[in-house]
Amino acid sequence: MKIGIMGFGVVGGGVGELVATNAESIKRRCGEDVTIAKILDLRDFPDSPYKCFTKDFNDILNDEEIGVVAEVMGGINPAYQFTKQLLMSGKSVVTSNKELVAKHGTELLKIAAENNVSYLFEASVGGGIPIIRPLYTSLAANELTDIYGILNGTTNYILTQMIKEGATFEDALKGAQQKGYAEKDPTADIEGHDTCRKTAILASLAFGTYVDSEEVPCEGITKITLEDVKYAAKFGSVIKLLGITSRAENGVYAMVCPAILPGEHPLAGIDDVFNGIMVRGDGLGDVMFYGRGAGALPTASAVLSDIVDVVKHKGAGISLGWEPGKDGYLLDAETLPARFYLRLKGSADSFAGKPGYSVYTLDGEKYAGEFAVVTPEVTGQRLCEMIADKNELGSYDILGKIRLVAE
Ligand code: HSE
Repeated sequence: MKIGIMGFGVVGGGVGELVATNAESIKRRCGEDVTIAKILDLRDFPDSPYKCFTKDFNDILNDEEIGVVAEVMGGINPAYQFTKQLLMSGKSVVTSNKELVAKHGTELLKIAAENNVSYLFEASVGGGIPIIRPLYTSLAANELTDIYGILNGTTNYILTQMIKEGATFEDALKGAQQKGYAEKDPTADIEGHDTCRKTAILASLAFGTYVDSEEVPCEGITKITLEDVKYAAKFGSVIKLLGITSRAENGVYAMVCPAILPGEHPLAGIDDVFNGIMVRGDGLGDVMFYGRGAGALPTASAVLSDIVDVVKHKGAGISLGWEPGKDGYLLDAETLPARFYLRLKGSADSFAGKPGYSVYTLDGEKYAGEFAVVTPEVTGQRLCEMIADKNELGSYDILGKIRLVAE
C-alpha cells in the first residue's frame, strides 16, 4: 500500500526512517509492501533520501493510490481540515496529534466510521507504548475503573533531573528540548496541557464517553522547586506529574497535577523520558504499561503499528470511539479526598502534636524559616477552606501544595 506523510518533523522523520529500516518485517506483517508516495511539508529537505516531497495538500488528497496518511504535523489547523477531507475521500488517517484527537476526536471518528475507513491514534498517548489498542481490544472484557499515568516525557525528564541530579528546572528543560522530547512551545509540556489532552483521550476511550480536556483541572510542574523535591525525599517519596481518571457511578473524575508518590509505588521508579500508565480493571486488577513516551523512533513505531493495522484491515474501517460528551458527566475532582503536602513559611510550633499531621524540616540555614506538613485525608475543597480560615491551620504563607497519591 502507498502511504502519505503530513509533516516531516521529529515524528515524520522517524516514520520515514522506520519504513526504510524495517521494510521487510513490515511487509511480512502486512502481507504487502508499504511505501511512501508523498510527504507534505512546507520546508525543503534536499538531503533526505526521499524525493517525493510536496507543498500542496491536494497532491496527497487526489492521489488515488494512497490508502492511508500519517498526520504527524501537530496542532489543530490545518491538521483538522486535512484529516476531515482525507477521511471523507475514503483514506484512513493515523496520527500522533493528541491535541487534535482530544479536541475533535469524536467528530473525526464518526466521519471515519461513516466512510468505512479508520482514524487511529496509538501514537497520541504514551509515545511508543501500546496503550490505545489494549484499551479497546485486550482489556475489553474488563470494566475499567481507574487510570494513573505519567504521560509526558519532557516533564518526567525534568523532574528526574531535579530529583536525581539536583538540576534546576531551567537546565533540565533545556536538556529535554535538545533531546527532541519537548513540544515546539514547551508551555504545553510544563503547564500540563499535553498530559491533560492525553488523560482526556484515555478517559474517553476507557469509560466510553467524551471528556473535554479543556474542562479537566490541570496544573503543571512550574511551581515545583528543589525544596519540594527534598521534603518529599524526607518521607521516602518522589514528585511526578500525573494524569488521573476514575469512573464513578454518575460520571468520571479526571485531573492533572503534580503528585507525591511513595517510593514503592509502581509509578515512582519511572524516570527520564519514560512514561508509565497503570490501568485498573475489575477482572484483571492492575496492569502497567511502560516505555519511551517521546522521541522520533518510539513515536514513529506507534504510528507505523497503526499503518500496519489499516493495511491488514483493508476494505473495513477499524471501529473504536466513544459517545459524545454530556453535561455533568465530568465530576468535581476537588471532592476527592487525599492527604496533602504543604510547604509553609514560618515556625512549625503550632503543628507540634497536632493529630493527623506529620511535620518535616530540612537541615541548613537556608531552610530555617520554613517547614512542611502532610495533612490528614481531606478533600481539595476542604483544604482550601482550612487554608483560608487562619484559626484552623494558623497564619502561614503557602510556599507549596501537592496532592499525595498512595494507591
Ligand atoms: N512533548 C511530548 C512529551 C511528546 O514530552 O511527552 C510526546 O507526546
